[in-house]
Amino acid sequence: MTSPSAIVIETRGLGKVYSIGRAPIVALEDISFAVAEGSFVSLVGPSGCGKSTLLLMLAGLVPSTSGEVLVDGSVVRKPAPDKISIIFQDATLLPWKRVSENIEFPLEIQGMKAAERRDRAAAMLSLVGLSDFGARYPHELSGGMRQRVSIARGLAPDPRIMLMDEPFGALDEQTRIKMGHELLGIWSKTRKTIFFITHSLTEALFLSDVVLVMSHRPGRIVGVIKADLPRPRTYDIIGSAEFGAARNQIWKLISQDEDQAADEGMASL
Ligand SMILES: Nc1ncnc2c1ncn2[C@@H]1O[C@H](COP(=O)(O)OP(=O)(O)OP(=O)(O)O)[C@@H](O)[C@H]1O
Ligand SMILES: [Mg+2]
Repeated sequence: MTSPSAIVIETRGLGKVYSIGRAPIVALEDISFAVAEGSFVSLVGPSGCGKSTLLLMLAGLVPSTSGEVLVDGSVVRKPAPDKISIIFQDATLLPWKRVSENIEFPLEIQGMKAAERRDRAAAMLSLVGLSDFGARYPHELSGGMRQRVSIARGLAPDPRIMLMDEPFGALDEQTRIKMGHELLGIWSKTRKTIFFITHSLTEALFLSDVVLVMSHRPGRIVGVIKADLPRPRTYDIIGSAEFGAARNQIWKLISQDEDQAADEGMASL
């Protein structure tokens, strides 16, 4: 068994240049960090700084132009859906399939037998509190429920790593807070390693062990903030002095970087 502090994801000098059209876009530059097994790590940064690109590279879906991604010490060259699940902002469920069939779908692709698939889907639905909705179609559910189905689908193959790209971005604030609590509940039961992208500094701190802060394009890691807040976390923690201080620290990193980007923009006029 791996020790709790084993490194499961590592990036070394990772870079990405998109070469479409005449001017290449340097999306990421020299990204190096490590994620401990079983930890909850968030990534925050301004729009367009390369967060989704980084997530797709961790999943082996987008190749790097420099540096490398390692999962369990091996260089990632292609997707490994049995090990890594991705959950996007939109639930991306198949509208013509029932909720349970949507959850079974990745298992079917893996070749799992029908009876086992059904049991697994039922267990995942129970985990996300939707046991009574397996026979419904996605359009019969609310946005929050659909997102819970997509989390259940991501958990179904029992991956060690869950990559989540703004999974609650399309939800109203109240549902979003509730989903955050639920995700922490699922995480504490399953002890997956979670890599979570969000625009919300509060959400990042509330959920995470570590918050990675990225700069304006080209994306670089400008801070690694440890969220040393007690668990299990309740909503009250957001009002604490500790939480406020950590949030301020992240805000300073982001706003300093934005000021610098604006100054550089002015200088080049
Ligand atoms: N397939 C692609 N081809 C060309 N350029 C791309 C591609 N994907 C992303 N980019 C560019 O790379 C940069 C980073 O994009 P990315 O989507 O990773 O940012 P992001 O931080 O996830 O933004 P947001 O917070 O808005 O989701 C942007 O300038 C974007 O235009
Ligand atoms: Mg994005």
